[in-house]
Amino acid sequence: MKKIFAIANQKGGVGKTTTAVNLATCLAVAGSRCLLNDIDPQGNATSGLGSETRAEGGADGALSAPNRPDTWMEKTRIENLTLAPATDKLGSAELLLRHEVNRYRQLQRAVANIRDKFDYVLIDCPPSCGLLPMNALVAADEVIIPVQCEYYAMEGLAQMLDTLGTAQAEQGANVEVGGFLFTMFDPHVPLAREIVADVLKHFFGKTYTTRIPRDPVLGEAPSHGLPAIEYAPRSRGTNAYVQLTREIVDAN
Ligand SMILES: Nc1ncnc2c1ncn2[C@@H]1O[C@H](COP(=O)(O)OP(=O)(O)OP(=O)(O)O)[C@@H](O)[C@H]1O
Ligand SMILES: [Mg+2]
Repeated sequence: MKKIFAIANQKGGVGKTTTAVNLATCLAVAGSRCLLNDIDPQGNATSGLGSETRAEGGADGALSAPNRPDTWMEKTRIENLTLAPATDKLGSAELLLRHEVNRYRQLQRAVANIRDKFDYVLIDCPPSCGLLPMNALVAADEVIIPVQCEYYAMEGLAQMLDTLGTAQAEQGANVEVGGFLFTMFDPHVPLAREIVADVLKHFFGKTYTTRIPRDPVLGEAPSHGLPAIEYAPRSRGTNAYVQLTREIVDAN
């Protein structure tokens, strides 16, 4: 195992799932053994890959049966890419784990059991700062924080860093910021350029060089159950995720 990434930002709709699906796919296509763990009950990463969400027996199992990975992950039709699909049961994870003393460390236990099977694990988080993202942050080596270049982006980041601080201070998480990733970036929009400048000012050295442009193809691909690299291999969106994949592989 080279690295475990949580893709997190409690702000909704900032490009977490789009990043998780496309980064996981590009890593797999480039030859890395990759697990995408969809712990968002919305199941967008699961359906974006053309797989079905289900009642149980997917990513919920990573939390409730961390020692039995064969029961909660499955191969996808993309070579090298394995999926722990989202389940309805994830929605009641708080209830499910209420008696579990180490309820914030279940995912950490789960990935410890599969370390030798994968090069990368990507965990797509729901837009909250509850039990599920906390499990992801405790399990992860690095967090990728997508930043949508629009108003309120900075407020969201402050909250995200608070959650990260809690994971480190209260749960002993070793997770670090892998990088802030600018998503849906349009250089012609002055506000987008301002947000980028603001984030660079506060978090210099912690941003990915690759910027993900706004590209309708990235929004269309999931409705066909396809990652962008299959749906529109020559699109700007695909190119950006290929470039991000290179940036991440080169750094690890
Ligand atoms: N670079 C992009 N260009 C165009 N559309 C995009 C881009 N990135 C994401 N989208 C679209 O924006 C919406 C939100 O993206 P996505 O689902 O990845 O965000 P999210 O952070 O995972 O959301 P949630 O917080 O609900 O889980 C989706 O409809 C997605 O298809
Ligand atoms: Mg999502």
